[in-house]
Amino acid sequence: MKKIISVVGARPNFMKVAPIHRAFQRYSSDIEHSIVHTGQHYDAAMSDAFFQDLDMPEPAVFLGIGSGSHAVQTAKVMVEFEKVCENIRPDLVIVVGDVNSTVGCSLVSVKMGIATAHVEAGLRSFDRAMPEEINRIATDAICDYWFVTEQSGIDELHKQGAPQHNIFFVGNTMIDSLHYALPKAKKSQFIHKLGLTEKSYALITMHRPSNVDEPEQLRTLLLMLAELSQLRDIVFPVHPRTRKNIEIFGLSDIITSHPRMHLIDPQGYITFLHLMMNADFVMTDSGGIQEETTALGVPCLTIRTTTERPVTTSLGTNILVQPSPNSIRQALNDMVTLPRKSGQIPPLWDGKAADRIADIIYKIL
Ligand code: UD1
Repeated sequence: MKKIISVVGARPNFMKVAPIHRAFQRYSSDIEHSIVHTGQHYDAAMSDAFFQDLDMPEPAVFLGIGSGSHAVQTAKVMVEFEKVCENIRPDLVIVVGDVNSTVGCSLVSVKMGIATAHVEAGLRSFDRAMPEEINRIATDAICDYWFVTEQSGIDELHKQGAPQHNIFFVGNTMIDSLHYALPKAKKSQFIHKLGLTEKSYALITMHRPSNVDEPEQLRTLLLMLAELSQLRDIVFPVHPRTRKNIEIFGLSDIITSHPRMHLIDPQGYITFLHLMMNADFVMTDSGGIQEETTALGVPCLTIRTTTERPVTTSLGTNILVQPSPNSIRQALNDMVTLPRKSGQIPPLWDGKAADRIADIIYKIL
């Protein structure tokens, strides 16, 4: 029996690993697949809700790392994950995405001589001020196998010198989860509970340090949203980091004085999918939401200087907007007055990426 560990830590990891776990069940007589949760995200809304919505089993191990500076968080992940690897002695470790748990666990497993695979490899924003970019570069530099979601990832891994035979273009496991959960998301009544109807509102998410950790930038963004709320209802599930900063920077007034700005708690996966599919458009600074809106054909404005997922702008519905007041105002104005950009589904984003990964890994091990 071969043993495989997949690591999850933060919110965007859960939907990438859920389909991988399901796909390995087809090989359950040869492969034992378990999930290790570092606990980087620990609030029920940021973590537990995703396990339930995605029908994931309880993690085999929970490391309880919690928040901290990047060094503290990553270091704690490494210390605890090393013990897990010593104990379980896996034949393969799978890490996904670009969060601190991804780089921490891959450093541990590679140094212990354990074969390590990175799912969602090769993506680059070329913006080294993003913590995720450093995590992506470091993880890709040391892994043994790379599973890729889009052509830009393959190109980048080639440039980096990764051996061709260990790079696999498999599609996007996050979109596997989207396909899996869509029937449930269609049945949700959440927007009606908010008093809204299909396509009547804009959906907003903002949590990236570059947008929410600097008082003036966060104020600018909230004022733009307040302006937009004259034209559209706004649904804004607020990440804990953003919530904290709105309070600390004294910006709550902007929200309370605009009744069409609906600030709500972070939502589970199915409710958030329901909010995305029914939105008139989405404005975000997330990585994954750029991909999910492209898969759903929902227009998306991404408030960032770069994207590590260029297929979402070249083929999909995503538009990159510079995070300045004028650019955001112009983009929102275009969004509500001009015809929308149409999009296509990127190659292999067909809901079967995890099956491809499991088939490949079964042959490798
Ligand atoms: C992390 C990921 C980011 C991802 C995001 C999705 C890194 C470097 N960043 O950013 O790529 O897009 O998750 O949500 O790994 N907090 C809570 N409860 C929680 C988790 C966090 O209150 O369950 C608060 C804490 O105060 C914490 C802050 O949010 O300090 C930030 O959390 P952290 O995990 O450090 O990074 P994220 O901003 O969530």
